[in-house]
Amino acid sequence: MADLRANFAGIKSPNPFWLASGPPTDKAYNVERAFEAGWGGVVWKTVGEPVVNVSSRYGANGYNGTRVAGFTNIELISDRPVAVNLQEIKDVKKRWPDRAIVVSLMVPCEEPAWETILRQVEDTGCDGVELNFGCPHGMSERGMGAAVGQVPEYVTMVTEWAKKHTRLPVIVKLTPNVNDVLFPAQAAVDGKADAVSLINTVASVIGVDLDTMSPLPEVNGKGSHGGYCGPAVKPIALRMIGDIAREFGSGLPISGIGGISTWRDAAEHIAMGAGTVQVCTAAMHQGFKIVEDMIDGLSNWMDSKGYRTIDDVRGRAVENYVRWENLDINYEIVARIDQDACIKCGLCHIACEDTAHQAITARSNGVRRYEVVDAECVGCNLCMLVCPVDNCITMVRVDNGRPYTPWTEDPRNPANRQAAE
Ligand SMILES: Cc1cc2nc3c(=O)[nH]c(=O)nc-3n(C[C@H](O)[C@H](O)[C@H](O)COP(=O)(O)O)c2cc1C
Ligand code: SF4
Ligand code: SF4
Repeated sequence: MADLRANFAGIKSPNPFWLASGPPTDKAYNVERAFEAGWGGVVWKTVGEPVVNVSSRYGANGYNGTRVAGFTNIELISDRPVAVNLQEIKDVKKRWPDRAIVVSLMVPCEEPAWETILRQVEDTGCDGVELNFGCPHGMSERGMGAAVGQVPEYVTMVTEWAKKHTRLPVIVKLTPNVNDVLFPAQAAVDGKADAVSLINTVASVIGVDLDTMSPLPEVNGKGSHGGYCGPAVKPIALRMIGDIAREFGSGLPISGIGGISTWRDAAEHIAMGAGTVQVCTAAMHQGFKIVEDMIDGLSNWMDSKGYRTIDDVRGRAVENYVRWENLDINYEIVARIDQDACIKCGLCHIACEDTAHQAITARSNGVRRYEVVDAECVGCNLCMLVCPVDNCITMVRVDNGRPYTPWTEDPRNPANRQAAE
């Protein structure tokens, strides 16, 4: 049986599944129920000077029957008094000593403010702090959250204050609302952060009500940009986590967040370098019990692959996450259509004909028949992706006898031509 225990920057939890800072971790009632359901840890909803929230504050976009493909919020940090949060954290930690409790923090960019809150938080007996440098709405306009996370100098400065004023492990939560996440990640490392977590939400507008002409979610006829999360953001998270894991290696612990709803999503985050994973939207959508399937699924999959510990999986995909120029330019595949499985809907033909390489015939000897013309097929996957029948179109390798060649060494690369001339 796989050992799911996590030791993340010195913070121990019985499994790598933590609830991310947000509504699921807003108060003792929620957190205790989450622990009862089996979550290994929580990052408590960001504590700071209590704020006032608006109504409404959430929005979602569905797709093809999926109710919450993406989720947005214009909620701010905790609207409950600091003292109440701290007392509850202390009580819950006492009752659940084996679970990880990390406290998310956000206060103005002034050292005394950070010193005060860090000392108070340390007294709760919690396991670590997470600096919220990510919130892209409301708090950023007040000079906090993403307003800090987008300026590497500020990230380093506040991280240094945190390290100076607490002995607890300091996790820096990064914003995806930057061009290159390596800059704030480097800034966190420069400030001696013990770990990073990512992603926080993506600045966005989820939709527009075409009757009221208000961006959503609507607050008395007006809307504001919010933070996007849920299944739709997993690809953004994987990319950023992979970038950091590749650049900094396994020496920088990463807590992966963004679009995790199943054990598979979690396994992908871990394979891309995460040591723990954090979940918010999926718990809001389906309740705390989803962790049971996540634990069972991850554990069964690890057993089936012979992975014994989380560290056996962590970062496994990173060496295969290469820059484009290192991909094999000579690798060749073509599409194959299983004629017995084909329902003759013609979607593959239309897709390839209109927008790809005119490599799928529509007729053969006067009858409807979809066949791939190998010589025209560039192996782009489009037909396979649009085909409604599972495994009807597969991609098969063409043995062209050419060896692995990255673009950097390809004679067609203008840089090589110039060098040769
Ligand atoms: C309603 C809501 C409130 C959130 N509040 C916070 C917060 O107070 N602090 C924070 O660091 N992140 C906050 N987040 C961001 C989540 O912790 C997480 O980074 C993000 O939702 C991506 O994970 P997910 O795709 O599993 O939801 C919030 C997210 C949601 C949906
Ligand atoms: S893989 Fe691309 S090019 Fe080849 S048949 Fe399919 S859509 Fe056309
Ligand atoms: S999309 Fe799939 S099922 Fe439809 S015609 Fe093409 S191969 Fe057949």
